[in-house]
Amino acid sequence: MKKGIFITFEGAEGSGKSTQIKNAARFFRRKDRSVVLLREPGGTKVSEAIRAILLDKRNKKLSDATELFLYLAARSQIVREKILPALKKGKVVICDRFEDSTLAYQGYGRKLPFALIRDMNRVVRGTLKPMLTFVLDVDIRRGLQRGGRYDRIERESFSFHQRVRSGFLKLAEQEPERMTVIDGSRPLPEVSRLVLEKLKSVFG
Ligand code: TMP
Repeated sequence: MKKGIFITFEGAEGSGKSTQIKNAARFFRRKDRSVVLLREPGGTKVSEAIRAILLDKRNKKLSDATELFLYLAARSQIVREKILPALKKGKVVICDRFEDSTLAYQGYGRKLPFALIRDMNRVVRGTLKPMLTFVLDVDIRRGLQRGGRYDRIERESFSFHQRVRSGFLKLAEQEPERMTVIDGSRPLPEVSRLVLEKLKSVFG
């Protein structure tokens, strides 16, 4: 049986992840791999219910700690219900956001302690780590324009979103082996080509 592969796509709002996730899925399906596409928060019944709470703009009073715990709770479910079983069956799992989003949004964005987030994330995901992570980097103004109707997080201040964007870049500097930053403001065919080139270089 083929070995499971876990890949994640990260980036600030409206960075064009969805298009590139489809692109990556096509790459693996052409190789006759079975691909599972997931998103965070979400992907299971419980995690989608948590997502609805997290993104509902009426939940203005959500504390930063509540927000963190809900993202982690949603992750715990998707890891156990979906990601680990799929990897065990040798599938390719491509997830729209994962742990790096928590470090970028709740760490750099909300300024919650990184050590705490990392420790709790380890409880949530165990030894599971993406083997490859794409960070699509786009200008915040441009990204938010693409977003359409704003959810609770998208309504955050410009400086919050700037901290998130630079947070992703700092995380990528810390783990260049795993995290590949791609300039998402380039023309779409070029972004797609860069993603495919990286996938080919790692998976042949
Ligand atoms: P999206 O899937 O449409 O990008 O919406 C998810 C939102 O949740 C997005 O604003 C990023 C945010 N988020 C966090 O703040 N922390 C996390 O750990 C994750 C996974 C997402």
